[in-house]
Amino acid sequence: MKVYNFSAGPSMLPEEAKLEAQKAFLDYEGSGMSVTEMSHRSKWFEGINNETNALLRELMGIGDDYYVLFLQGGASMQFEAVPLNLLTEENGKKADYIVTGNFANKACKEASKYGDIVAVASSKEAGYTYIPDVDKIEFRKGTDYVHITTNNTIFGTRYTKLPNVPNLVADMSSNILSQVFDVNRFNLIYAGAQKNVAPAGLTVVIAKKDLVDNAKPLPFCPTMLKYKTQADADSLYNTPPCFSIYMAMLTLRWLKKFGGVAAIQKQNEYKAGLLYDFIDNSSLFTNKVAVQDRSLMNVPFVTGSEELDAKFVKEAAANGLVSLKGHRLVGGMRASIYNAMPVEGVEALIAFMKKFETENK
Ligand SMILES: Cc1ncc(COP(=O)(O)O)c(C=O)c1O
Repeated sequence: MKVYNFSAGPSMLPEEAKLEAQKAFLDYEGSGMSVTEMSHRSKWFEGINNETNALLRELMGIGDDYYVLFLQGGASMQFEAVPLNLLTEENGKKADYIVTGNFANKACKEASKYGDIVAVASSKEAGYTYIPDVDKIEFRKGTDYVHITTNNTIFGTRYTKLPNVPNLVADMSSNILSQVFDVNRFNLIYAGAQKNVAPAGLTVVIAKKDLVDNAKPLPFCPTMLKYKTQADADSLYNTPPCFSIYMAMLTLRWLKKFGGVAAIQKQNEYKAGLLYDFIDNSSLFTNKVAVQDRSLMNVPFVTGSEELDAKFVKEAAANGLVSLKGHRLVGGMRASIYNAMPVEGVEALIAFMKKFETENK
């Protein structure tokens, strides 16, 4: 059965990328080998690594003054790597975090083990249903960095305005490549790739070169977590997640063909708009997120009855609309509509929601 997969991650990849991978699975470019079994030092993988890097740079407008690193360990490993690399003794190991969800909170907690970390703003008291007004936040002076989570996967919020600070670090796991970002506004961006870029296993880090080159990681920072280790080795210090990088290349080729990030942003706005419009006019479904902070990628919604929510998730799956169960912290439903989700997938979901609403009034 053909399904539309609304999973929050790992999630849908473009069909074109999957078909291309299938075609080349047993024999990549006449090598007689699959990408899953070839050396990461081979000329074939070198080509894949370089093209993926170049495509990401082109699509996100990343300048030569930034490193693009392909790492492992997930975004969660970056919760450690960021403070271990960027907190400095000179500044008193200070960093400010904006806590807008579960992952932001985890990032903040991990960093707190290593320095003087303050949650300068949080939307916890409102169940993380909004993004604090960044213009009203009192950031401390002399911090090593300010950390944000640009899209909150579980709660369905996103920043539409970035804090005006010179040392921004962002977890961009769930909306990287979904909308245009000015990379120059960030000192460092990290993202688990398993939502908008590739299968699980790859973590992308985009970091200012001078920051990495001049960093003095904390003395106990493991070699593997030092950005400089991987930057000096073109991300090949150890065996990289070769197949995920290859799939990232195919996804990025697809995105480039689509017209790039600005074009997919338009489609993402359209898709999210359709779904929010329907929910806002529904007599059954509601979305609790502050309208101005609504995510383009993750749309949580509820019926108001746990029983009906469970019935919805079950019946939707039977109709080919899968992975719609909300995160356990929020309950209800969540439709993750990343880049690879076609407009027809969102239309099919809305058509099913309409039918369900009529049948369950
Ligand atoms: C915004 C955000 N940050 C961090 C994570 C954790 O990522 P990983 O599983 O790659 O460690 C996730 C996972 O869903 C996420 O959505």
